[in-house]
Amino acid sequence: MAATGRPSLFLDACRRRPTPRPPVWFMRQAGRYMKDYRDLRAKHSILELAKTPELACAVTLQPVRRFGFDAAILFSDILLPLEPMGARLRFAPAPIIDNPVRSARDAARLRPCAPREDLSRVLKAVSLLRRELGQTPLIGFVGAPFTLASYLIEGGPSKDFVRTKAFMNAEPAAWAGLMRRLAKMGADYLTAQVEAGCQAVQIFDSWAGALSPAQYRGKVLPYSRALVAGAQKSGAPIIHFGTGTAGFLRDFASAGSDAVGVDWRVDLAQAFKTCRGQAVQGNLDPAVLAGPLPALKKAAAEILRTGRGRRGFIFNLGHGVLPQTPEANVLAAVELVRSAGRP
Ligand code: CP3
Repeated sequence: MAATGRPSLFLDACRRRPTPRPPVWFMRQAGRYMKDYRDLRAKHSILELAKTPELACAVTLQPVRRFGFDAAILFSDILLPLEPMGARLRFAPAPIIDNPVRSARDAARLRPCAPREDLSRVLKAVSLLRRELGQTPLIGFVGAPFTLASYLIEGGPSKDFVRTKAFMNAEPAAWAGLMRRLAKMGADYLTAQVEAGCQAVQIFDSWAGALSPAQYRGKVLPYSRALVAGAQKSGAPIIHFGTGTAGFLRDFASAGSDAVGVDWRVDLAQAFKTCRGQAVQGNLDPAVLAGPLPALKKAAAEILRTGRGRRGFIFNLGHGVLPQTPEANVLAAVELVRSAGRP
C-alpha cells in the first residue's frame, strides 16, 4: 500500500486541531513482526541498520508503505546517544552496556554528546527520509532521562531497578548531575533531528512506571520538564510517552508536552480529563494487537468510540508492536482507524 496519510492529519492532532478521523501510527511499527524487516536484519545487525543512513531510511519506510500509517518514526534506538557519552553498547538481542555507571565517579566520566557530529549518520537518515516521505510526517525521538539513566546504571534491562533506585537515593548530587546531562543531551538531539527534517518528536520514558509518584515527582519530573522545555524551542510538537504512569499521570503530563502517550492500563476517557489541553496518544494493548482478530477489532472500536469528537486524539498502541504480531492484524487495525473517517 502506498503512503496515503493525509498531509497534516497527524500534525493537526498533535496541535489539537480538529481532524476528520484520528491519525494512526504504532511504536515499533518497523521491526521483527515484518518479514521485510527480518529479511534485512538477517544481513545486518541492529546497530548497522541504525547507523547506515540508507538502511535506516529503508526500514523506516517499510511499514509506512505497507500499511499506510499516518506518520513515520525514524528507525533508530534510544540507546544510540549513550555511545558517544562513553557507554559500550551491544545488542544480544536485548541491549547490554558493558561499562555501567555504578558510582558518582563513573557518572562524572561521561562525556557530553554533540549530536551533529556524534550522531551525524542518524541525522543523515532523517534528511534522506524527508525526501522519500513526501507529505507523510516524520517523528524523531529520544529516551527520557530516567529511562536512559536506568540503562546506564543497570547495564541492561531490569525488572525492579534496584541499582537505579539505590544510585538515586545514595548519590543525590551525582543523580541530579546525570539527569541534567541526559536532559541536555535530549534537548540538543531532538533539536538536531527537527533541524534535519523531523516534524514531531517523541520522548520515550518507557520505564517511568517503575517509580512511585513521589520518586517521579522529586527525582525525575524536573529533568523531563527541562528536556521538554529545551526541545520546545525547535517548534515541533512533542509527544511524551510512558508506560505504567497511571498512578501519577497528572505529574507526568505536567512535564509540559503537546501530547501525552498512555498505555492500556489507563482509562482513555480519564486520560483526556487528566491531560486537559494536551493531545492524548494511545492506547491499544500490544498483546491484543497480536491476538485473535475479533477481540482486536472490538478493543480498537472501543478506543475509537472514546476518542470520537475529541480534539487531539492519536491512535497508537500502549507500547511497541510485539514481534509475534501477524502483519494482517496490523493492517486490520490501521484499516479500522482509517474507516472511522468515512461516512
Ligand atoms: O518505533 C520504531 O519503529 C522506531 C524504532 C525504535 C527501536 N527502538 C528499534 C528497535 C524505537 C523508537 C526504539 C526505542 C527504544 N529502544 C525504547 C523505547 C521504546 C520501548 O519499546 O519501550 C527502548 C526501551 C529501547 C531499548 C531497546 N532496544 C530494547 C529493550 C531492545 C530489545 C528489544 C527486544 O525485543 O529484544 C532494543 C532493540 C531494538 N530496537 C529492536 C528494534 C526494532 C529489536 C532489534 C532486533 O533484534 O532486530
